[in-house]
Amino acid sequence: MEMKEHMKQFIDDFYQEDTNYDELPVVQLIEQEEFSTLSEMPIPEDGQSVEEMVHILRKEVYPNRSIGEHPRNFAFIPAPIEEVSKLGDLINLFYNPNASGWYPSSGTACIEHSLINWLCEQAGYSDDASGIFVSGGSIANLTAAIAARDNKLKPDDISKGVAYISNQAHHSVNKALHIIGIPEERIHRLETTADLKISYDDLERQIEIDQEKGFKPFLVMATAGTTNAGVIDPIEKLAEVSQRHNLWLHIDGAFGASLLLSKTHKNQLKGIELADSITWDAHKWLFQTYSCAMLLVKHRSTLLNSFSNRPEYLEDAHQADRTDFWDLGIELSRPARGIKLWLTLQTLGTKKISEQIDYGIALAEFTETQIRQTKHWEIMTPAQTAIINWRYNNPKFTDAELNKINTQLSEKMTHSGYAQVLTTKLAGKTVLRMCTLSPLTTETDIVKTIEKLNQWASEIN
Ligand SMILES: Cc1ncc(COP(=O)(O)O)c(C=O)c1O
Repeated sequence: MEMKEHMKQFIDDFYQEDTNYDELPVVQLIEQEEFSTLSEMPIPEDGQSVEEMVHILRKEVYPNRSIGEHPRNFAFIPAPIEEVSKLGDLINLFYNPNASGWYPSSGTACIEHSLINWLCEQAGYSDDASGIFVSGGSIANLTAAIAARDNKLKPDDISKGVAYISNQAHHSVNKALHIIGIPEERIHRLETTADLKISYDDLERQIEIDQEKGFKPFLVMATAGTTNAGVIDPIEKLAEVSQRHNLWLHIDGAFGASLLLSKTHKNQLKGIELADSITWDAHKWLFQTYSCAMLLVKHRSTLLNSFSNRPEYLEDAHQADRTDFWDLGIELSRPARGIKLWLTLQTLGTKKISEQIDYGIALAEFTETQIRQTKHWEIMTPAQTAIINWRYNNPKFTDAELNKINTQLSEKMTHSGYAQVLTTKLAGKTVLRMCTLSPLTTETDIVKTIEKLNQWASEIN
């Protein structure tokens, strides 16, 4: 069979057998026997049949995963996908451009640059803004931290630089700070208020204390849509404090920045245009395949200041009137990640995207209503940006017992294959957490998920 026939066959088989979500467990972990067979499979001296190897991949490798686009995957930040995103990925894969700059791929550069400009406009940035498509929120946060360090700290002051994050910040923010040379003792975890938002009073207080001690506060990394609870930090207030003290304000909107495309909920991000940089993942709530995320910056010059570097072997490839992506970020060779998002936005239109985002929020609110009607279930954080936390809380059990019970309920759901509902910890308590992003999820899916959890909880004595 020609390779083209293998590809066609794979696509046919995938759509026939691997997208039948009602029959597929949401999550499956590899069994020990399969693990041993696969990991001990030798690399042969003579090549083997493509058909057989594709069969192994389809039947033994990929079934062992959490299906991000499954309508009852409520874990992590799930990854519902618009099918057209796969087409965009496929097209880019086939042409395989090196999208590092204008010369190697001017067509895709034109689309990626104009899409970045459009996204900057949605954030309320001026023409001076810019950005880059990167592999994910972690790399976007790292890119922002590098730019913040280089634009706010003199080289001699790096050893005194202090950054401020929330105790609810995503761990990639910690990693980013570690990578740019800010050790734990110079990362201040700010207090959060009862609604889990950064306390800007605490920020102001900490900055003043640190300045008095001779440190150099330079960066605030806040979140729009925390991973735990979907909380949006008080952006306008944080911008005010940051500006007053000449600090860089970064908004990690890996999850929540997508509200910028919701006609109804965009106002929750009021003031985001005041931030120096914004992380925004398209492979979360813009329905893209992995990997596709954006880092947007208020001023293009800040990225150029950190990343622009013109070695002799790239001289011929640079065009004087154009900005190459290698001058705006960490990577040189890179896929044109923005193409699939462009194709999705072009073919769905902003109205449909906006409705799909609003639907995720409505589903979380529906979930909250259902839980409030169920005895012994306690809402821990209300529905916010499509995330809700709650816990089974029957007063006949101690807190320690309840922590165990909630974990067991989550595990039972995972083993049932029906849905994936994982736990997190809030104020030391183990809670159940649901993130409802998929346009394919129905209210019946939610009702049945809660019914099952409730049934199992009532069987515990
Ligand atoms: C708030 C937040 N920031 C950053 C990240 C990291 O994103 P990625 O997994 O795309 O690197 C996540 C992932 O869930 C997140 O929720």
